[in-house]
Amino acid sequence: MAETAEASQDRLTVTDSRTGRSYELPIVDGAIRTLDLRQIKVDPDDFGMMAYDPAFQNTASCRSKITYIDGDLGILRYRGYPIEELAESKSFLEISYLLLNGELPTPAALEQWTAEITNHTFIHESIKHFIDGFHHDAHPMGMLVSAVAALSTFYPEAKQIRDPATRHRQIVRLIAKMPTLAAFAYRHAMGLYYAYPDDDLSYAGNFLNMMWRATELKYQPNPVLENALNVLLVLHADHEQNCSTSTMRLVGSSDADPYTAMSAACAALYGPLHGGANEQVLRMLQAIGSVQNIPDYIRRVKAGEFRLMGFGHRVYKNFDPRAQLIKKVADQVFEVTGRSPLLDIALEVERIALADEYFIDHKLYPNVDFYSGIIYLAMGIPVEMFPVLFAIGRTPGWLAHWEEGLLDPEQKIGRPRQLYVGPETRHLD
Ligand code: ACO
Repeated sequence: MAETAEASQDRLTVTDSRTGRSYELPIVDGAIRTLDLRQIKVDPDDFGMMAYDPAFQNTASCRSKITYIDGDLGILRYRGYPIEELAESKSFLEISYLLLNGELPTPAALEQWTAEITNHTFIHESIKHFIDGFHHDAHPMGMLVSAVAALSTFYPEAKQIRDPATRHRQIVRLIAKMPTLAAFAYRHAMGLYYAYPDDDLSYAGNFLNMMWRATELKYQPNPVLENALNVLLVLHADHEQNCSTSTMRLVGSSDADPYTAMSAACAALYGPLHGGANEQVLRMLQAIGSVQNIPDYIRRVKAGEFRLMGFGHRVYKNFDPRAQLIKKVADQVFEVTGRSPLLDIALEVERIALADEYFIDHKLYPNVDFYSGIIYLAMGIPVEMFPVLFAIGRTPGWLAHWEEGLLDPEQKIGRPRQLYVGPETRHLD
C-alpha cells in the first residue's frame, strides 16, 4: 500500500524569500506533490508556484509496480525479478505475462497464454493490401507506425477501454500481430511474398520464419539465433517511463484505443535518440569504415560535431545491465554467423571510448543498442528493421503501462503546464 500524505510524518519546509512565508509540504515515497506548491503565492491573485522540468528529468508522472531501475547501480528488475535471472531462463511470452499480470505464469497459465497469442498471429488480409500500398523503399518503421494505427479500424470494439475482457483481447492481438506486421513490412520492402505465421514455433522462432522462409514447407529456425532473438526481446520488454512508454501513457490518458496509443509509442520509438539508436549505431560503424579511422572519429565526437551513437543513457550512468547480458549473446551468435568486420570496429570504438577521459567524465558507457544492432546485422536483419525489432520487444511493456495508467484512480488526462515567455498582450495597429 502506498503511504498517504496525511499518514506521512516527513515534511519539506520551504521558505519563500519573496514573502518570508514558510510552507510544510508532505513527503511521500521521497517526493513532494507539485500541486502542493500551488499554495505558495505572493498575493491571492497569484496562480501559485509551479515546478519547471523540461524533458521531465526529475518528475515522477505516476506510481508504477512494473519495472524498477537504479541507474547508478545498473539495476533493472521486472516486477521485482532481476533482469539477469529472467533473460537467461524465460521466454518472451513468459516475460510478457509477467509484465502484464505481475506474476510469472503457472505452467497451465502459460499454456493458455501461448495458445491465445498464437491464435491471433494472423492479420486481416486487407492489412496486407494496406502494406502493399507503401513505396518499395518505405522505411519499415514508418510502415509499422501506420499499420498499428490502422489496426484500430479493424477492431472498433477496442474503444471500450474500461471493459477488462475487451482490453485483454486487444493486448493479446497486439502482442500476437506485431511480429507479423513487422515481417510483412520487411518482405514488402524486399519484394518477397508474405510468409504466414507458423503456430508450431516459439514467438521468436515464428518471427524468424516470417522473415526468412523461402521455398521450404516448414522453416526450422537456428536454435542459437532463436535464443538470441528471445533474449533481445526480453531485454527490451520494458524500461519504465522512457519516451515511448510515456507517450503510450499520455495518449492512453485521453482514453484513445490501445492501437492508436501504441502507434504513437512506436512513433516516439522511431527517433534516433531512442529506439532508432541501434540503426544509427550501424550507420555510424559503416561511416567509420575501418579501425584506423576511429581515433579521428572520436576526436570529432569530443569536439561536439556529433554524438557517439549507442553510448550514454538518461538513467544508467555507470553501466547498462542489458548491454552486459547482450554481449554474451553476441559471442554465441557470431559462432554461428561468423564475425562481421563491423564488429571489429565496434569493439575498438568501445575499447577506446571506455578509456577516454571525455567519456569517463561524462559517464558515457555503451547502452543496449550499441550491441543489439551488431547482433541483428550478423543475423542478416537489415538496418532499417532494428527499431522495428525494438518495438516488438517493447510491446508488452507499453501495454502493461497503458493498462496500469488506465486503472490508476490518481490518473487523469495528461496535460503539462508551461511557463509562458512570449510577448505581453499587443495589438494590431
Ligand atoms: N556521445 C558524445 N557525447 C555525449 C553522448 C554521446 N553519445 N551522450 C551524451 N553526451 C554528452 C553531451 O554532449 C553532454 O555534454 P556536455 O555536458 O559537455 O554538454 C553530456 O554528455 C550530457 O548529455 P545529455 O544529452 O544532457 O544527456 P541525456 O541524459 O539527456 O542523454 C542520451 C541521453 C539521449 C541517450 C544521449 O546520451 C545520447 O544522445 N546518446 C546517443 C544516442 C543513443 O545511443 N540513444 C539510445 C539510448 S538507449 C535507448 O533508447 C534504449
